[in-house]
Amino acid sequence: MMEQDIQQVLFNEEQLKTRVAELARQIERDYAGKTPMLISVLRGSFIFMADLCRALQLPCTLDFMSVSSYGKGTSSTGQVQITKDLSEDIAGRDILVVEDILDSGNTLSYLLKILENRRPASIRLCTLLDKPERRVKPVTVDYTGFAIPDAFVVGYGLDYAEKYRNLPYIGILKPEVYGG
Ligand code: IMP
Ligand code: MG
Repeated sequence: MMEQDIQQVLFNEEQLKTRVAELARQIERDYAGKTPMLISVLRGSFIFMADLCRALQLPCTLDFMSVSSYGKGTSSTGQVQITKDLSEDIAGRDILVVEDILDSGNTLSYLLKILENRRPASIRLCTLLDKPERRVKPVTVDYTGFAIPDAFVVGYGLDYAEKYRNLPYIGILKPEVYGG
């Protein structure tokens, strides 16, 4: 069972729900009168995106993109490639990028540069989790769910080797599972 691979539950379903609602209230205040486009970076943020957009009492549109960082195992590298691009034009739109986790910052600093080049009206970043200790590239975060210590976490969309995404909570993966 997946549960046996979890060392510690960091955030249970209720804690996640409470924090997502708080983030939604903040975003509603900041985007009052606007119709932001929420961009989910697949695949890790799909559950967060689904919960956040349903908590938002604000008109918004949704789009999805997918990037691959050429990292193996549990860390990414500076090389990032768009494997699925957006369906919509973002020029003139108020963009809110929705991410699962900010780690080295390599993926997001690259992605944000690409999106800025497409001339949106504004661009902000919302990440559910942040590991500030791990940052290599500076990234400005506008909304953070939780800052966490440097541990490999799974669940609520986050994977290890594509597994554990469907756990309803976020937990620290036992290091022996990934040979850490
Ligand atoms: P960065 O480019 O190093 O910031 O890596 C960001 C991406 O690495 C995230 O979008 C995740 O896909 C993945 N990642 C980083 N840390 C974790 C973790 O603890 N669990 C699962 N995926 C992670
Ligand atoms: Mg991700």
